[in-house]
Amino acid sequence: MKIRILKALKENKDGYISGAKLAENLEVSRTAVWKHINQLKKEGYNIVSVSSKGYRLLEDQSLMTREEIFLGIKDLSFLDEVYYFDTIGSTNTYIKEIEGKNSGQQLLVISDEQTAGRGRLGRKWESPKGDGIWMSLLLRPRISPFEASKITQIAAAALVEALRNVLGIDVKIKWPNDLILSGKKLAGVLTEMNAELSSVNYVVLGCGINVNTIEFPDDLKDKATSLKLELDKEINKKDIIVSFIRAFYKLYSSFEKAGDYEETLKICRENSATLGKQVRVISGDTVEIGKAIDLNSNGELIIEDENGDQKTIFYGEVSVRGINGYL
Ligand code: BTN
Repeated sequence: MKIRILKALKENKDGYISGAKLAENLEVSRTAVWKHINQLKKEGYNIVSVSSKGYRLLEDQSLMTREEIFLGIKDLSFLDEVYYFDTIGSTNTYIKEIEGKNSGQQLLVISDEQTAGRGRLGRKWESPKGDGIWMSLLLRPRISPFEASKITQIAAAALVEALRNVLGIDVKIKWPNDLILSGKKLAGVLTEMNAELSSVNYVVLGCGINVNTIEFPDDLKDKATSLKLELDKEINKKDIIVSFIRAFYKLYSSFEKAGDYEETLKICRENSATLGKQVRVISGDTVEIGKAIDLNSNGELIIEDENGDQKTIFYGEVSVRGINGYL
């Protein structure tokens, strides 16, 4: 109901709408309207009430609430619920905890802060309050476990699209999951899966984007950056999230419904920070050195060594020469 009242206020943002009219249109009591309006005010919406005229919403484009995100994506009929927290341990971990209670549902969880944010390969992911977009999707793709890594590439491609659409910037993808801006890491993707041998139960797709960070810890200073540091302007996080979800949905639904992965591959190839470069790949105990020459049709990295022998890399930590030494 709160969402419907907000939608009605947005549609009438040039004038006032009375409590009686809202109640009549939405088929609820005037008291219910009043309660939801108060709730919206508490969440930060600037709603003016004038006794003879009714309510009017003074829009603040930068306001980020669960409702704003929900309104931006609800036509996609892709996510059942959006959760928004001030603080949480990790949005990925939270989804794994609540997954069983939300059977069959797909969710988006966002938090303003993570106190135990996790990165790939068991690393910590710094997620201070207000500094970034820390979000995770709970997905239930009908795919084989071997295809799950494609979802990381879909997310990376969708992040490229969203940052281009909202901010007009070109970020590059360091295969498989890093987003690079000005030679430094801006964002990362952590994909976790729960599966049987032949089918996936669910996937948790976590994305962390450094937005307002001004200072990184010493060990990250030379390697990480934020939108604020690079662009020096106010960033609208809500627009980035909505644009990302919309871009992700488009690529993900073609893949999940029709097995079509072509558009993702195109975006990943065209915006790669890895292809054409000398790379060092550490997978478990092995280290491979070679030139990254292409992504195969599954989105896996093909490298070629000095003898011209080619190898397919399925996973691992890739360092690219030329981005600040090896990044
Ligand atoms: C990486 O590059 O190592 C991946 C970083 C992924 C960070 C995001 S932030 C939201 C989600 N919750 C987590 O704990 N991690 C991911």
